[in-house]
Amino acid sequence: MPKVKEAWGSRIGLILAMAGNAVGLGNFLRFPVQAIRNGGGAFIIPYLVSFLLMGLPLLWIEWSMGRYGGVKGNHSTPFIFGSMSKKRLWKYVGVFGIFTNLGIISYYTYIESWTLSYTFKSIAQSFSGLSRHQVSAAFDTYAGVHSPAAGHLVAVNFPVWAIVAFLITLTINIYILSKGLSGGVEKVAKIAMPLLLLFGVFLAIRAITLGATGVAGCATCNSHLGLDFLWKPKFNNLANPKVWLAAAGQIFFTLSVGMGTIHCYAAYVKKNEDIALNAMTAGWMNEFVEIVLGAAIVIPIAVGYMGIDWVKENASFMMAFKTMPFLFSQWGPILATLSGIAWFGLLFFAGITSSLAMGTPFMAFVEDEFGWGRKKSAVILGLIILILALPTIFFFEIGVFNEYDYWTGTVSLVIFATAEVILFSWIFGMDKGWKEITRGSDIRVPTIYKFIIKWITPVFILVIFISAMIKPLHGELVDWQLAFNQLLTHGTWPWASDSIISQVFHLNEKIIWFKQGAATPMFYKDMSRLLLLSTFLGLSFMVHLASKKRKLTAKSHIS
Ligand code: ALA
Repeated sequence: MPKVKEAWGSRIGLILAMAGNAVGLGNFLRFPVQAIRNGGGAFIIPYLVSFLLMGLPLLWIEWSMGRYGGVKGNHSTPFIFGSMSKKRLWKYVGVFGIFTNLGIISYYTYIESWTLSYTFKSIAQSFSGLSRHQVSAAFDTYAGVHSPAAGHLVAVNFPVWAIVAFLITLTINIYILSKGLSGGVEKVAKIAMPLLLLFGVFLAIRAITLGATGVAGCATCNSHLGLDFLWKPKFNNLANPKVWLAAAGQIFFTLSVGMGTIHCYAAYVKKNEDIALNAMTAGWMNEFVEIVLGAAIVIPIAVGYMGIDWVKENASFMMAFKTMPFLFSQWGPILATLSGIAWFGLLFFAGITSSLAMGTPFMAFVEDEFGWGRKKSAVILGLIILILALPTIFFFEIGVFNEYDYWTGTVSLVIFATAEVILFSWIFGMDKGWKEITRGSDIRVPTIYKFIIKWITPVFILVIFISAMIKPLHGELVDWQLAFNQLLTHGTWPWASDSIISQVFHLNEKIIWFKQGAATPMFYKDMSRLLLLSTFLGLSFMVHLASKKRKLTAKSHIS
């Protein structure tokens, strides 16, 4: 079986690739929006606690699981898990570590392609002289998005340029992946990460020095108010489970834990090489980029021109494309062009270093198990991404994109993390686990973490998981006490429509697939679920075949 030999070229390359895996669109687009929606400074404390009790332990767990499996020749989570427990079930749990990445990379690469297009649009000064509404409308035309109010359910415009940019972005990713870890991923990380930091610092300085902009009739148009709102810790919301859920969800996404990418990258680390310090360095680098740079760009600049109330009401991930180019144009043509290049260039670098990481688990799996070469693996990966991504492009406005994000970018991460922490701490065993974390370590990992990883992290994640499954809602309010009262007095539970159970069974909505001869949004969403489910089952079948193949090989070696 022709096995592809992969290895990291240098320690700095590995750390930058791991940091690049973590630092992504989530740091600049998801974090600020989550923080604003969950009370600004009130979000920061649950966020940091989640980092210390859940994020950091998961980083150590995933790095050490990866290295442990890699030493035995297993570079994908089904077989890394399989090397930690003899029970067959774990191999299939490990399928999540490939599946999640295929799901996320499909919509993620699409956003990445927007950032690439917008970098070129900034160079061409395409936004100069446009009003805010024109900039926003330009995006709608670009992505073929039509307002449902206009009666269009499906994109009426064939989004030609969005599709071309997507294909180019996908090709770039596949090309780099076909060059392998040290020849492709590592080289890109070494260029992209420093540039990303440079662009980020430039924009953050601009935002911090912006101050009051003097917009007529807007007393709160001051970037410092945005910074204050995000950074000044507030203690008023600490008992609100909704904020905790959002903070933990952000930690999962931003660190790329519960995904399978870290296991895969770490599987190429040598047996006695440090992982404890490496994991911490990559993790803290991500936190610096998120809390310092991620918080210091989009929100403060938007507050500077639109005021704090507008931003609190309208903060969304789309602001990056629909609002920022207009705000940059307030700075005159030269600075606007430079800021546009810095902003979209930064997003592109952040995106690509993460999407490359999401491509590797599938490649490692087929290279290890089926002996495919790097090129073949990369091309087939590209085709799978293309098939999965097209529905998110064409039916973007109907919610297919959100459906992918919900199932693969949110729910799967928590399921996988719950499973892996149980496997590591309780089945593999904490004593063996601790030895794995600390072997070859260049720092002394505080012993308290042995206790945290065994008890606190699993309980923390289980609470998050169960809360997400049964999240209640009363009108606008997530109130657990009211929900339990209702359960005791009326025997019913007020399911929030984004609780996992409610989503699975469509509890708060009628199942209607066709109306007046046309497919409803629910039809599109359910079909995208079917596609994701088929992907999961397809991968499970491949794991089954691979296991059989391994058994046959083992038998033929014995006889
Ligand atoms: N960790 C990556 C991000 O933050 C997925 O975007």
